[in-house]
Amino acid sequence: MKTSLYHLILTLLGPHCCLSLLVQPCPKTCTCDQDPTYSSGLRVNCSNADLLEVPWDIPVGTTTLLLRDNHFEILHNSSFASLTQLRTLDLSFNRIAHMEENAFEGLETLLLLDLRRNVLTLSRKTYLERVFQPLASLKTLFLNRNSYASAYRREPPVLTSQSHGEDDESVPRSTGNVPKSSPLSLKAADGKSVESESETLRLNGTEINTSVTGHVKDKLELSNADLTYPDDALSHLHNLVELHLDGLKDTAFGPGFLNLSNLTVLSLQGFCHLGALDNTTFLNTPHVQQLNLSECDIIEVTRDAFSTLTDLRELDLSYNQKLGLDRLGDAFEGLSKTRLERLVIDAMVPIRNLGIIVNSTHLRHFKDLNHLKVVQARFNRIEAFDDGVLCTELPPNLKHVYLNANMLVLASYVNDLKCLESLELLHINGFDTYWTPPLRPPDPEDVRTRTKSCAKQVPGNGGTAEEAAA
Ligand SMILES: *[C@@H]1O[C@H](CO)[C@@H](O)[C@H](O)[C@H]1NC(C)=O
Ligand SMILES: *[C@@H]1O[C@H](CO)[C@@H](O)[C@H](O)[C@H]1NC(C)=O
Ligand SMILES: *[C@@H]1O[C@H](CO)[C@@H](O)[C@H](O)[C@H]1NC(C)=O
Ligand SMILES: *[C@@H]1O[C@H](CO)[C@@H](O)[C@H](O)[C@H]1NC(C)=O
Ligand SMILES: *[C@@H]1O[C@H](CO)[C@@H](O)[C@H](O)[C@H]1NC(C)=O
Ligand SMILES: *[C@@H]1O[C@H](CO)[C@@H](O)[C@H](O)[C@H]1NC(C)=O
Ligand SMILES: *[C@@H]1O[C@H](CO)[C@@H](O)[C@H](O)[C@H]1NC(C)=O
Ligand SMILES: *[C@@H]1O[C@H](CO)[C@@H](O)[C@H](O)[C@H]1NC(C)=O
Ligand SMILES: *[C@@H]1O[C@H](CO)[C@@H](O)[C@H](O)[C@H]1NC(C)=O
Repeated sequence: MKTSLYHLILTLLGPHCCLSLLVQPCPKTCTCDQDPTYSSGLRVNCSNADLLEVPWDIPVGTTTLLLRDNHFEILHNSSFASLTQLRTLDLSFNRIAHMEENAFEGLETLLLLDLRRNVLTLSRKTYLERVFQPLASLKTLFLNRNSYASAYRREPPVLTSQSHGEDDESVPRSTGNVPKSSPLSLKAADGKSVESESETLRLNGTEINTSVTGHVKDKLELSNADLTYPDDALSHLHNLVELHLDGLKDTAFGPGFLNLSNLTVLSLQGFCHLGALDNTTFLNTPHVQQLNLSECDIIEVTRDAFSTLTDLRELDLSYNQKLGLDRLGDAFEGLSKTRLERLVIDAMVPIRNLGIIVNSTHLRHFKDLNHLKVVQARFNRIEAFDDGVLCTELPPNLKHVYLNANMLVLASYVNDLKCLESLELLHINGFDTYWTPPLRPPDPEDVRTRTKSCAKQVPGNGGTAEEAAA
């Protein structure tokens, strides 16, 4: 407290000083302390405080402002205008559906903005063209887990004793015949993919009603045609390095992304239904070095889809089971134009798939990945390799291979192991009879909100998107 008082007094000496405001106290329902990250400033924590609006009396010297887990629906103009020192702003886990165009005015020094887990639809109507213009310093932006399309998307299963029971919320309810343990195979009875139907359902009607109230709803008259990556708004973020976003089906990253010359980390992981990737998808993001497309419901990748990512070093395509190992091979041709060093392709085949014998068709163009050093391909039901492929189809600089939890059996390919001289590390431990997702533990945040939303219903506000989907 002593330090914060000191800083408050300091700010009084600054240009914002006015006589009527002798000391700016910590706002009610918040806690204030010295910011551990930016030691010259204040960290103000107003998380989980049932707030409906951004408090007006946040101290001017605040560098970190935590507002997660409240009930904001609209970010009004000039909500943070006096907070010119702010570096980190956490607005995650609210119900924000609309941001007025001047909402972020004054935040020229902001480095990190977290808008995860709101209800901001990916469209130009939601992201007004100049809404991010003040954020000239922003380096990291979280917009993921916002799309309505994600509302029917499974959550990572909660690892409890009931998690495989009848009420497993991790499984979409839209069809009767989805196997409970296979959340990644979303097929309707006729074999048609169910996504488009569900998206329409969510985008106009029940979903918007139940997740946001009153006047906000009027602003959300959106159809599937409006969905796009808001590249106009994002193009103002010249210093952006890292972007976390939900993924849209068959949608390219528009020309505004070309302005983001520092954008090297792009993650669409988890809440996405990308469908087909082609040579337009990543045309405008040539600087990306790390791309995370795991759990993205990718169905097809054309041979040149990745060829525009000339700086790419790390790619995660895990859990794209509709792609499978057969069609994955198409991606390698484009990837040979990149600088790919690390490829993660865990669980690319459906659960309980027949065992796979990897052959030269699977590995077409794989040997052209000249920079590739590390491959992680766990849980792919691999039983063996065709004779010779380990000698002829592997890239020259491959050093580490993780094949844990496959179904490798002893077969004639062991004679080819002698060809793996330059390999430094080969993991083949673990044997998979069938794998049960998730491979990784659930995101603790998801567990926490799930528990909370069950325990605490906010009267009059309806449920969360997930509850509505259930
Ligand atoms: C902020 O406050 C919330 C609720 O009181 C608490 O759970 C959280 O740990 C706090 N965060 C920090 C960084 O202190
Ligand atoms: C917010 O600011 C923008 C840009 O100045 C303005 O066009 C808009 O009318 C303002 N909105 C409200 C509700 O005042
Ligand atoms: C959703 O909103 C419409 C009007 O836009 C209304 O007629 C309908 O009853 C609402 N549904 C629910 C479940 O609130
Ligand atoms: C819902 O959206 C679809 C197109 O996505 C449109 O054809 C339909 O008219 C919309 N329904 C309502 C009630 O807005
Ligand atoms: C994006 O870059 C183009 C060309 O360099 C430029 O004309 C345009 O103004 C930029 N857009 C923004 C929002 O900075
Ligand atoms: C990008 O990052 C470099 C340093 O990493 C920095 O010098 C530059 O100003 C940044 N911004 C743009 C628009 O390139
Ligand atoms: C992208 O692919 C299409 C065919 O699918 C081709 O006509 C076009 O020239 C390609 N564009 C580039 C930039 O390679
Ligand atoms: C991709 O994202 C998932 C989920 O956040 C994470 O577990 C995984 O490590 C990421 N992949 C890479 C290569 O960083
Ligand atoms: C490789 O295996 C796939 C089935 O997984 C098969 O379709 C393909 O014809 C095989 N290629 C060769 C060269 O045997």
